[in-house]
Amino acid sequence: MLSRIVRPTLTAARNFSTSQQNNYKVTVCGAAGGIGQPLSLLLKLNPLVTELNCYDIAPFTPGVACDLSHIETASKVKGFDFQPHKRRLAGAQINIADIDFLILNSGMTRDDLFGSNASVVKTIFECASVACPDAIFCIITNPVNSCVPIACEVLKKANKLNPRRVFGVSTLDIVRANTFVGEMCGVNPKEVNVPVIGGHSGITIVPLFSRATPKVTIPADKLDALTKRVQEAGTEVVKAKAGHGSATLSMAYSGARFANNVMRALMGEPDVIECAYVMADVTDVDYFASPVKLGKCGIEQNCGVGDINEYETKLLCDALEQLKRDIQKGVDFANQDQ
Ligand code: LMR
Repeated sequence: MLSRIVRPTLTAARNFSTSQQNNYKVTVCGAAGGIGQPLSLLLKLNPLVTELNCYDIAPFTPGVACDLSHIETASKVKGFDFQPHKRRLAGAQINIADIDFLILNSGMTRDDLFGSNASVVKTIFECASVACPDAIFCIITNPVNSCVPIACEVLKKANKLNPRRVFGVSTLDIVRANTFVGEMCGVNPKEVNVPVIGGHSGITIVPLFSRATPKVTIPADKLDALTKRVQEAGTEVVKAKAGHGSATLSMAYSGARFANNVMRALMGEPDVIECAYVMADVTDVDYFASPVKLGKCGIEQNCGVGDINEYETKLLCDALEQLKRDIQKGVDFANQDQ
């Protein structure tokens, strides 16, 4: 099993020298929100990013960009107040014509996430299919299980779908699994890698502790609780914040880690593997999170489900049932008449 993980550290990014492109233009949609601000900060600190465009419906978005622009890194930051409901203006509003990365995240709470986020995703991808169809798309917007199918359907309709370049970011599930296993087994979480397959919500999240590296033994009487903790970690944060939102900082870290690793692979670094929720034919459903090998053009190879034990097989069966419904919801939404 290939399991190279690359954490988004500045040193790591600097140490990798290449003649390939190392100057990425990144647009963050939802840049002024709870995830968007720390994500934009981490991207501003990433030496591989040379241009950062911050979009949000919040009128103070140019202020967020101004704030970031004072940080002593070379990248240029611009902020835009974006109104996605003004559909005819949207294309002109989003300065995405020559960008390399489009990262979407939800500024919404969990309340009616699908209703509020699905149409934003649809509108943004209608713009993107014209303005930057060749960008790498990283979708953090929840529900990721449905939003990635929406994005792909919109791109497909425009004849611009390249499934190797559209990612649902499920990295936070891996980050959480690594942290919880590290805590439980007394290992530095930075050294742990637990692949997590399926989707990015509740029972669709299937952590594969049997494939953790380094090899760990989870006591049988703790396995259920640990699995549930990973599956319900988002809710753990929602409860802990007591009405003040969901995970933002750990999600921002995860989004930045994912984008950094895609950039490194695009630059030609070999054997970069990340789990991501992508269009795939490795199970019975059309979209699935699994380890994917990243390369110069996006996904080079989907590593699929791989070897899993009986316990994980049962989790996977339950996940697939739910995923089917989530995916259909996204596909239906994308194809309904306006
Ligand atoms: C998470 O996993 O915590 C995020 O996707 C946010 C949420 O609401 O679950």
